[in-house]
Amino acid sequence: MIAPVSTRPVEIAPSILAADFLRLGAQVSDALDAGVRRIHVDVMDGHFVPNLSMGPLVVSALRPLAEHAGAILEVHLMIAEPDRYLDTFRHAGATAMTVHVETCPHLHRTVGAIRGLAAQPGVAINPATPVAALDEILPDIDVALVMSVDPGFGGQAFIPATIRKVARLRTELVRRDLEHVEIEVDGGVEPENIGALADAGMTIAVAGTSVFDPRAPVGQNVRALRAACAARVVSSSPSASATPLPGSSRP
Ligand code: DX5
Ligand code: ZN
Repeated sequence: MIAPVSTRPVEIAPSILAADFLRLGAQVSDALDAGVRRIHVDVMDGHFVPNLSMGPLVVSALRPLAEHAGAILEVHLMIAEPDRYLDTFRHAGATAMTVHVETCPHLHRTVGAIRGLAAQPGVAINPATPVAALDEILPDIDVALVMSVDPGFGGQAFIPATIRKVARLRTELVRRDLEHVEIEVDGGVEPENIGALADAGMTIAVAGTSVFDPRAPVGQNVRALRAACAARVVSSSPSASATPLPGSSRP
């Protein structure tokens, strides 16, 4: 029997940036009904990134839906000085908060503040930021977010070099016995690349356009992403995975 490359299922985290805002509650409910347990909320300030999006009011509006389903509401803070808003987002209902290494000169303090609010701390790196930028903070975080597009907009093309970055990060987590840290990838994730990302060591896939693509129901889109992961695992042959990535075979 061919050993699977990865047996740990990848969690799909729909990014509501791509949802139909006129029907936001219904769209999120559809995702939750499909088994999603992590909702990704993109917060943009027109300063760190060249776009404006949503804030704590949207988080508090979604809170009852998430709590009813036992789902995590994750805010991706693409904003300057995120420390100023952690408390506000936590009180709005965010249970996971991800900040960018590029915006946080005192990252341990910021991560400690998120932990102090009883939320999952995450740290993101932009495509041009090396994995090594996470070295000192890895033991303190729950989620390492590897951006696969420059943040600021949904619907951008996936940057293929991300797959190598994810593999490097997975190797580092294995080497340091930090495999509990989730590797999340955000930007341009779709059925065509999700399998390769899973093989490289991704554990959470943020997906906006591919989940809220109006050509099919949300639940069907979520299942298509899961199926693309599963198909990749099943079809991997020993030759295709002659040198399995460290940590890619997880219970
Ligand atoms: C980009 C955001 C992403 C984005 C993902 O700045 O952080 O979460 O909404 O959307 P897609 O999947 O459309 O690239
Ligand atoms: Zn995001």
